[in-house]
Amino acid sequence: MTRRFGTLEEEKVFKDPVHRYIHVRDELIWELIGTKEFQRLRRIRQLGTTFLTFHGAEHTRFNHSLGVYEIMRRMVENMEERENWDPEERLVCLSAALLHDIGHGPFSHSFEKVFHTDHEEWTREIILGDTEIKNVLLVMGEDFPKKVADVIAKTYENKLVVSLISSQIDADRMDYLLRDAFYTGVSYGQFDMERILRVMRPKEDQAVFKHSGMHAVEDYIMSRYQMYWQVYFHPVTRSAEVILSKILHRAKHLYSNKYKFKDKPKHFYSLFSGKITLEDYLKLDESVILYYFQEWQNEDDPILKDLCERFMSRRLFKYVECDPSIQMKVWPELIELFIKIGLDPNYYLVIDSSSDLPYDFYRPGEEEERLPIHLLMPNGDLRELSRESDVVEAISGKKRTDHKLYFAKDILEDQSTFPKEKQRILSLLIAQEG
Ligand code: NI
Repeated sequence: MTRRFGTLEEEKVFKDPVHRYIHVRDELIWELIGTKEFQRLRRIRQLGTTFLTFHGAEHTRFNHSLGVYEIMRRMVENMEERENWDPEERLVCLSAALLHDIGHGPFSHSFEKVFHTDHEEWTREIILGDTEIKNVLLVMGEDFPKKVADVIAKTYENKLVVSLISSQIDADRMDYLLRDAFYTGVSYGQFDMERILRVMRPKEDQAVFKHSGMHAVEDYIMSRYQMYWQVYFHPVTRSAEVILSKILHRAKHLYSNKYKFKDKPKHFYSLFSGKITLEDYLKLDESVILYYFQEWQNEDDPILKDLCERFMSRRLFKYVECDPSIQMKVWPELIELFIKIGLDPNYYLVIDSSSDLPYDFYRPGEEEERLPIHLLMPNGDLRELSRESDVVEAISGKKRTDHKLYFAKDILEDQSTFPKEKQRILSLLIAQEG
């Protein structure tokens, strides 16, 4: 029998701008970080196209994954002081935190929509399939990889462990809010994580928070609320996302129609045909995708060429707010006008919707049941957060949705051709805003 991983002779540290240092003392964690599947995360940005809006947002899924690991390491350390924590379970927790996003591909959001892939399924395959990661995990025991995959899939038997990595307040969210705020440079993502970790207590199958730390938890909820609307759903980022999706759609469409690409997009073949293997998937990263976007600027297909030029030179679509119910009335006329001026509405007129539910209390039977955040009262009772906090109550259970209509304003404003039709289109679009 081979030996199991133990503790490193000397602790390793990574310098990190958010947590100052990431500490690694387990050989297992060190080996996982060194695998090629984990190193690949260095080539995938955490926030997709957000760098086109906030130029600092160049941080990667590698940075974030280390950060989630570090928060989890500290949570487990705090809890170990209060109760017996099984050493193997500790390592399951740390590995799951480190690997929770391992299945993400480049620009996941758009890729998943266009090619119907699912990063959660890839995560499972990478942990359980023929990979360096699985081989490292196997050193800890035959069933160790499955335990790690189960924590990430939320099917693991110890629900406390699951809640530390995915609940309404977990290591993943705490890291991405702080990290994304840091790298975008916005000030509203800040909250006092130190305080939250200090007041966190394990209670049966969930982590609860001492009542005295309620304001730190409130701050966290508000920061999440702010980050969604100010950063994650920023309309300019969404415009870039729309163009990116349309490039992928167009390339797929051309491939299905036997179009002859000047430079064969071989990295995309299995995606286009819907038969992608794990090996192919792991070869995709943002440098590969951007290589093709660079090349496709020289293609003969005018739509693919134009969309790629837009993405590479950041000539994005403009937008108007829209109400889909009103929109529907002018939609047929808009489509007709677009076709008349030779602009394909499937690529140049796009409705995009975003919605977010900042915090929710427990509603049994609802589709996405969310575990509420509980406060631990001085007398030992638990109280659901929104019953104690007026601030949180005000936004609890309130889903906000917004719809925007994206279009190539520059083409419509160039009225050297079809001036009448283009003017009509612009007036119809502007009328949407009311
Ligand atoms: Ni994450």
